[in-house]
Amino acid sequence: MNRTGKKRDLTDIPDLSREDVRVVFERAAEMKRDRTVYAGSLAGKVMALISEKQSLRTRVTFQTGIYQLGGYSIYLSNHDISLGKREPAIDVARNLERWVDVIVARVFKQESILDLAKYASVPVINALSDMAHPCQALADLFTLEWLGHNLKGFPLTYIGDGNNVCHSLMLLSGLMGVRMTVSTPEIETYMPNRNIFAQARALARESGGEIIYEPNPDRAVRGAKAVYTDVWASMGQEEEAEVRKQVFAKYQVNAALLSKAEPGPYVMHCLPAHRGEEITDEVMESEQSIVFEQAENRLHTQKAILHYLLLG
Ligand code: CP
Ligand code: NVA
Repeated sequence: MNRTGKKRDLTDIPDLSREDVRVVFERAAEMKRDRTVYAGSLAGKVMALISEKQSLRTRVTFQTGIYQLGGYSIYLSNHDISLGKREPAIDVARNLERWVDVIVARVFKQESILDLAKYASVPVINALSDMAHPCQALADLFTLEWLGHNLKGFPLTYIGDGNNVCHSLMLLSGLMGVRMTVSTPEIETYMPNRNIFAQARALARESGGEIIYEPNPDRAVRGAKAVYTDVWASMGQEEEAEVRKQVFAKYQVNAALLSKAEPGPYVMHCLPAHRGEEITDEVMESEQSIVFEQAENRLHTQKAILHYLLLG
């Protein structure tokens, strides 16, 4: 429970209001300017970080983040707790809530996040599931704002798989008034989830943003000031990788595609990148690439999320 007396989770972007995001971004900016600000504010707090999948950025930024705020983290790999097999998520939640102050979880199924959030009395933060990656989306739009852009009407194009990263980015774009175009192969499996797309559009109607679907990547990047991509085969889809390489061939973010956007668009990627597949080496190493800025900002935005959910 935080200052407001309410438990707050981040299962996905709709758990946040525009005002919540504003506070998180302001606090993240303070934290980025000075890593020692808010030091000690989470003294004595313990974070359990559950992970059913691999991770570099998420694990290091959450563990470093809570440490910088004075708290402590316990990492629980799938090997340790085998969520849902050794013990159901609802029981894991009711154990962890007795000991720790916040649960961060990277899982295969969004339902596991929802079970943890429903059954734990402490905040639960989604650190990636099959459907969502809200911490990534927050770092991404924070990055654009940090670089001096107004999110309202900002033209952002996402090219590739309509996956977890795309979903949360659409929802946050809708909430914050971004003009986001999504370009994927026009086959249901690779398109964004219909309900999430509709939800993002509804948010955009309220914020003055726009969420557009355009299967042709050349048309989708027209007017874009940032072009975003992610891997074609996400964790858990390794067996589909070869088929996906064929399906997504036209959706590579390369110099030819970028030449059709606004001059010098930012190139964005949540990482890890598969160079030579969804993004070329040349583009990833170009001056337009802000992928490592995005990665850095995972630290600041997640510290701000932890601070906001735990203390208000
Ligand atoms: N972008 C991201 O979440 O990276 P990791 O999978 O390495 O945590
Ligand atoms: N879509 C990717 C994102 C990795 C951060 C995956 O789920 O593997």
